[in-house]
Amino acid sequence: MYILFTLLASVAILPLLLCSFCPYFVPDVLYVVKCIGRGIRIRSYAKKKPFYSTLEKFLEVVQKQPDKPFLVFENKTHSYLDADKQSNKVASALQKHAGLKQGDTVAMFLGNEPDFIWIWLALAKLGCAAALLNYNIRSKSLLHCFSCCGAHALIAAPELKGAVEDVLASLQEQNVSVFILSEESTTPGIESLNDKIHQASDQPLPQSLRSSITIKSAAVYIYTSGTTGLPKAAVITQERVWASSLFQGICGVNSEDVLYLNLPLYHSAGFLMGLDGSHRKRCITVVLRRKFSASKFWDDCRKHNVTVIQYIREVLRYLCNVPKKDSDRDHKVRLAFGNGARADTWKEFLKRFGDIQISECYGATEGNLGFVNYVGKVGAIGREIFLHKKLFPYVLIQYDTEREEPVRDSRGFCVPVPKGETGLFVKKITKVAPFIGYARNPQQTDKKQLRDVFEKGDLYFNSGDLLMVDHDNFVYFQDRIGDTFRWKGENVATTEVSDTLLMVDCIEEANVYGVAVPDHDGRIGMAAVKLGEAKQLECDKIYSHVVTYLPSYARPRFLRIQSSLEVTGTFKQMKVKLGEEGFNPAVVQDPLYFLNENEKTYVPMTQEMYNAIISKHVKL
Ligand SMILES: *[C@@H]1O[C@H](CO)[C@@H](O)[C@H](O)[C@H]1NC(C)=O
Ligand SMILES: *[C@@H]1O[C@H](CO)[C@@H](O)[C@H](O)[C@H]1NC(C)=O
Ligand SMILES: *[C@@H]1O[C@H](CO)[C@@H](O)[C@H](O)[C@H]1NC(C)=O
Repeated sequence: MYILFTLLASVAILPLLLCSFCPYFVPDVLYVVKCIGRGIRIRSYAKKKPFYSTLEKFLEVVQKQPDKPFLVFENKTHSYLDADKQSNKVASALQKHAGLKQGDTVAMFLGNEPDFIWIWLALAKLGCAAALLNYNIRSKSLLHCFSCCGAHALIAAPELKGAVEDVLASLQEQNVSVFILSEESTTPGIESLNDKIHQASDQPLPQSLRSSITIKSAAVYIYTSGTTGLPKAAVITQERVWASSLFQGICGVNSEDVLYLNLPLYHSAGFLMGLDGSHRKRCITVVLRRKFSASKFWDDCRKHNVTVIQYIREVLRYLCNVPKKDSDRDHKVRLAFGNGARADTWKEFLKRFGDIQISECYGATEGNLGFVNYVGKVGAIGREIFLHKKLFPYVLIQYDTEREEPVRDSRGFCVPVPKGETGLFVKKITKVAPFIGYARNPQQTDKKQLRDVFEKGDLYFNSGDLLMVDHDNFVYFQDRIGDTFRWKGENVATTEVSDTLLMVDCIEEANVYGVAVPDHDGRIGMAAVKLGEAKQLECDKIYSHVVTYLPSYARPRFLRIQSSLEVTGTFKQMKVKLGEEGFNPAVVQDPLYFLNENEKTYVPMTQEMYNAIISKHVKL
């Protein structure tokens, strides 16, 4: 009796003990359970005949809730049924005029607009894969992106007609059907598509058109740009589409939510995490915008009763940089998910815009595993959980920034870093976490793989990211490999330096990178900065701040003042070009400053100073 009592008592107390000693026990367990549940669900979809794709799920929603708003775009609301019918029309037109059959690939060359979504749904209905071209690319790059996925047809927005005409001759050599989203076309070799869509039937297309699609089929191609070279087409399989469409559920998005989507749909953040996750089981409403606008952001959220927003990299900072308004907290946004929020911006964002849950997450477009910070710990990208790691093995290994390769021990194997230290994040490639690679690019696919990591013959995906796991098992993003440089034998993490610079009042944005100096090893720190509105450069303040918070090797020796910092379409800062431009005032037109240790301030850079540095009269 006594034993039984003790047993019962300890069973009752156990959760309490766990909660006080491991405050994250419950969310951790819930997270693992959710992940496993989703894994099992995807396996069961894979076995269904015909394959139960995310499109079939969408069609079920159309059956159940035809009138629910699916898409809001520039004052027009489209219901789930509208989306279904419109995509039927597009599919019928493409079937008839492009002769598409399942397994074909079609490249889409257009911006964020409803047509993007109708075409993508139409292609899924025909069993075709969609290649999502970045609408900023031109000529050689455009041709490369088109060809590397083996596309049979190209569909372009009318405003991109010029870009298509530039490469039309090469496309015609490849017998590609080229369509433009307009009523008519006057260019030979380019067909209009809108007129054909209007004439087409909106009746459902038979499922047999996509009967050979399996969970391993390519669903979309998404392009990732390296720091150098042409973009690579990451093959996103149906399985990967399923996995990412379940992601919003893990973040806590539910069917009453309204999602504000303004990131480019050609990229994995906007497409896989944003759009694709939205119309599945949770059947939420998406408010789509052509382009991100910091000044319109909250007005849009208020107007459309937005409850969930998505961000990437610098976006939260841009929102914080907009002048404060009384209405800053007047909105219904309860959740923000995304990737790349830095701790300082995150805090400022919450302080200013109110109690919004931030679900920071991490994962590569082509990667086989990600993290989600489901407890809202500021600055972290997720948590390390034993079971999760067991199921999807990954490890942080020592990385040599100078030689740009992982450190290997005497037997030639990689060396894991202990908790609290930064290491290269590599993930084991397994059946449940495969790495599909890049279309028609075995070399680049090979480059992302790491062999013989802990034993002969094992294979890992090299994320290219440096992460850190702290003693409470929180995972932090530290830097991209290319973004870390070495100076005086020390690693300099550019994000850390730019976070420090941003603490200075007059600096609104900062982009830190390394520049080569003749006859010196490594790269010396330099920062391109944008000053706040009506702010003056405060050289003494920046100097004392930098000296207080950064070790000498990490201090930016040069400042470059720019009126705006260049970013990519997905808000990635450009570092390579700035690094190449260097610090020669004869070359760089922007004002340049030099950290002068004797004068204890930053001083305007002159040609004499430059010459003195190059001739080593000034020691760095
Ligand atoms: C949406 O409607 C508002 C007011 O009704 C109008 O001012 C605005 O121009 C419209 N926007 C577009 C893109 O049609
Ligand atoms: C294009 O089509 C023509 C005529 O149908 C054919 O002769 C040619 O081989 C095709 N070219 C390619 C690259 O498929
Ligand atoms: C937003 O919510 C308010 C009140 O809850 C409602 O009156 C309004 O019609 C809603 N607006 C939209 C666009 O759904």
